[in-house]
Amino acid sequence: MSLRIGIVGTGQTIGVASDHLAGIQAVPEWELTAVYDIEPEHARLWVEKHELSPEIICSSLDALLERVDAVTICTDNASHGTIARQAFERQLPVFCEKPLSINFKESRRLADDAREAGVVHYMGMQYRYHPYAQLIKETIEAGELGDIFSYRHKLGGGRIGNPNVGLEWRMKKETSGAGSIADFGIHQVDLVQFFLNAHCGEIAEVQADVGTYVTSRQLDESGYGTVTNDDLSVIVIRMENGALVTLNNSRLLPQDGDGLEIVGTKSAISMDVHGHVFMRSRNADGSWAEENEELKIEDRHQFSGLARGKQYHEFYEAIQFNAPYELSFDYAAQAAKVIDAGIRSSEERRNVLLSEVDAPQKRKEYE
Ligand SMILES: NC(=O)c1ccc[n+]([C@@H]2O[C@H](COP(=O)([O-])OP(=O)(O)OC[C@H]3O[C@@H](n4cnc5c(N)ncnc54)[C@H](O)[C@@H]3O)[C@@H](O)[C@H]2O)c1
Repeated sequence: MSLRIGIVGTGQTIGVASDHLAGIQAVPEWELTAVYDIEPEHARLWVEKHELSPEIICSSLDALLERVDAVTICTDNASHGTIARQAFERQLPVFCEKPLSINFKESRRLADDAREAGVVHYMGMQYRYHPYAQLIKETIEAGELGDIFSYRHKLGGGRIGNPNVGLEWRMKKETSGAGSIADFGIHQVDLVQFFLNAHCGEIAEVQADVGTYVTSRQLDESGYGTVTNDDLSVIVIRMENGALVTLNNSRLLPQDGDGLEIVGTKSAISMDVHGHVFMRSRNADGSWAEENEELKIEDRHQFSGLARGKQYHEFYEAIQFNAPYELSFDYAAQAAKVIDAGIRSSEERRNVLLSEVDAPQKRKEYE
């Protein structure tokens, strides 16, 4: 049976909604029947660009919610909660873009509300479904790395690495929460947990520093506005087993700096900016082999409709067949906790235990 879905927030800057459209269209069980954007012109242009019927454009969020069985939220981080809660009121499942909200507290509160509503709550942290991530995960699971003790991941930059890109919602605390530490960091924390939790235990301790290098950007013809969150960030994580993780994420880096390396007692695996995966083994005397061997990405590492196709397949299965899914709002709140620990570490100039950032047990204490 097919289900009707609506997208809230068709896009202005990155326009991640187009990525979602590709995922929806890759899964025949989904039918996009409605879109709504607070700026009607954004929705009109988006529908035109993707050659969709203008009839799917709704004039309000309520109008969209009346026409669908599930909702995808692709708006700025601060508005996710209000939109999701309106969907919960109508018992509609929600697929929300990352980060879930502007900080851990708000993310935790939204995850609690989703659970209370009893609907499927699914997150747009899609990196684990990229072919390189599936191949790396499979290699780790096969025990080929041995005991893992080191992990490095650099991510970021590209489009807004250009300081001449104007001021966007993601560069302001009130609409985004933290900057690059959350924007890219949430994806990085997701991958750390996906790759390492079964081998190194949970994330135990966080040390981080953030900074804002480009402090103002063009607002409109009349002048510049202030960037109120970070565009540079470095996070050091200690896993339960003592393995050390370094995450470098910056909005200002050139994109070809991206890469990942995981090192264990038996061998090391790495991924380059093109998503190619390499393995370096040890010689009999324990030294590192001179040559890297490129590992082949096979059909089983690639999903129909790519990462988003896999996500929309999971979202559908969760709604229709109660299938289990990992990328829940609870999972996203846990990732937000690591980011908050990083921000606290930067503010207080010390290592922060993840257990220090725990939410109060009673809901009234949120107020
Ligand atoms: N998973 C990923 O790889 C990935 C990549 C990019 C962005 N994102 C996330 O996706 C979300 C959207 O980012 P983007 O770059 O596509 O944004 P964007 O600026 O391209 O688009 C946001 C759109 O939402 C609309 N909007 C804002 N508030 C609204 C409201 N209350 N109701 C309806 N429409 C509203 C805006 O008019 C705009 O058209 C963010 O949470 C971002 O962090 C995730």
